[in-house]
Amino acid sequence: MTDPKQINGFSRFTKDQQRCWLTEHFLRPDQLSELSRFDAEDGKLQDVIDNFSENTVANFPMPFGVAPNFLVDGKVYAVPMVIEESSVVAAASAAAKYWQSRGGFRTEVIASEKLGQLHFRWSGKPERRAALLPALCTRVRASTKSLTERMEARGGGVRNITWKHLPEVSEDCYQLLVSFGTADSMGANFINTVLEAYGQELRRWAVDCPELTAEERDLEVIMAILSNNTPNCVVKAWVECPIEKMAIPVGGVDPFDFARRFKYAVDIAREDPYRAVTHNKGIMNGVDAVVLATGNDFRAIEAATHAFAARDGKYRSLSQCRIDNDVFRFELTLPLALGTVGGLTKLHPLANVALDVLGRPGAHELMGVMAAAGLAQNFAALRSLVTTGIQKGHMKMHLQNILSSLGATATERTRTAEKFNGETVSHHGVREFLEELRREG
Ligand code: MEV
Repeated sequence: MTDPKQINGFSRFTKDQQRCWLTEHFLRPDQLSELSRFDAEDGKLQDVIDNFSENTVANFPMPFGVAPNFLVDGKVYAVPMVIEESSVVAAASAAAKYWQSRGGFRTEVIASEKLGQLHFRWSGKPERRAALLPALCTRVRASTKSLTERMEARGGGVRNITWKHLPEVSEDCYQLLVSFGTADSMGANFINTVLEAYGQELRRWAVDCPELTAEERDLEVIMAILSNNTPNCVVKAWVECPIEKMAIPVGGVDPFDFARRFKYAVDIAREDPYRAVTHNKGIMNGVDAVVLATGNDFRAIEAATHAFAARDGKYRSLSQCRIDNDVFRFELTLPLALGTVGGLTKLHPLANVALDVLGRPGAHELMGVMAAAGLAQNFAALRSLVTTGIQKGHMKMHLQNILSSLGATATERTRTAEKFNGETVSHHGVREFLEELRREG
């Protein structure tokens, strides 16, 4: 190893050593202090954060915002959102307020089943599965009784086991597809532990099951892991209102015209994948922000959501809009495999605060709130897109970000906001204006 930028044993360095090494090889000397700038003063808290991951050389702060006035199934929530993109919290808040006086968001958890897979190579004939499966199920379930008991007491556990043949991979490729209920937890650890135990039992079964022929004893477990595809862990959120009550706070826009243009925009995203991806990204602006705030796994939710969006073979919008008898209905259906107990939801102090702000919801309730946040975000984006355009709102926030980066004072912020009101904002333009202000003194 001759390149000094390569290293062995980095993970065994102390944090200070890691920071020094990193600075020495990849940063400027003055950036060393940047790495410690966001350290928690409370050493115990810093330990908690450090233990989330490995080689933690710094904390990476993100804004924790709140979108108030979310009326969801008759209950008012202030929705915690962790997101760095300007306008998202403002847009969610505006949409929540708009729908608050029009009946609010309604939600329904359609199903909340999670899936896991145990893949194995087996030399038996596919048609033997029907005869062998019932006893195999009894056996693997019995072998994991101590692992599933507590989850069963909470209303979860293993629901169903099917034995699939995957000849498209190879003639000897099989899978146990296992469905789980995981109560209020996301359940990843539970599912993976049970599946790995199933794998061990499957190996024993191949050795000692008296019904197997010599050929059928040739079995090799390949892998055991949950599936992040969760098409049966789905929630629906919707808003509904007579169009005549849909006045929008943009001067001169007729509600019927607005509703027609809005539905047209959603229909485009149903059919055109290029638009659908952007449309769904807007939905995920809202969803992910709540997922992060509540300590849930945004990668899992993103992966599941986009698979769901393409479930009929074409990538489509997750939301739909209907207009029947002059009533506007806008709904979002998406998979949300999440938890409100265990994992990061318990360990991260701010995830705990977020769950407190939400009133300590169970998983189903949180699925509803997240879906409402996604729908609100989607509504806000489309409302802007089919009326004023998106840049008007974005530019206000963009301007504030530019001003922060240029170290503007409160007075400079006010003067610049006045100057750029209704005008195109560019970094260059704002910098020039600020320099002029500063020259004037
Ligand atoms: C930007 O983060 C999200 C939007 O592009 C969503 C959309 O176009 O629907 C505004």
